[in-house]
Amino acid sequence: MFLETHTFFANLSWILLIIILVSRPLAEITKNKILFRVLRYRKQLGVICGLAAIVHVLFFLLGSGLAGIYFLDAEFWSLQNFYGWGSLAVVAMLFPLLTSNNFSLHFFGKYWKKIQRGTYLVFIATAIHIAMVKDEWFEVMGPVLIWLFLWTWAELRRRKRFKV
Ligand code: HEM
Repeated sequence: MFLETHTFFANLSWILLIIILVSRPLAEITKNKILFRVLRYRKQLGVICGLAAIVHVLFFLLGSGLAGIYFLDAEFWSLQNFYGWGSLAVVAMLFPLLTSNNFSLHFFGKYWKKIQRGTYLVFIATAIHIAMVKDEWFEVMGPVLIWLFLWTWAELRRRKRFKV
């Protein structure tokens, strides 16, 4: 049962990550009302995304019987294989996930945004993880390249606006 369903949660988490990352620059560039509405739910989407990733990992470890050696076996933490990139993504995800609430927003103040930017690392590490699993770099890196392009575009526009 665990091994049959862990990829469902993996894909759910990946799709949500793409939506969360791409929606902000795309909304800023297009000024689309629906996208601005999506932005309002980014915190909630982030929590679902993080939980889905954790379920993916837990179900895989329980289903494969590898749960007992996960923290001890260096293979799971080596960036030479897809496990290591997945582990990096999970660890990096914990910080934005645990601070994705109003209490943390007030507690961390100006640092809160910086912590949430850890999602960029999660996105890139997850993309490498999936590309290694599927051996399909072009398909998986597509969303990362699109996000990078939109993010740079939105950032340049914002800087230009502040200069004027
Ligand atoms: C943020 C963290 C992670 C995300 C978002 C994520 C997402 C994904 C996605 C989308 C796939 C492709 C599923 C498919 O074939 O359709 C995948 C595959 C896989 N992931 Fe992860 N992953 C994460 C972390 C991890 C970690 C830490 C492990 C191991 C401990 C892991 C183990 C696997 C395995 C074994 C597969 C291959 C599944 C298969 O083809 O049967 N993942 N992951």
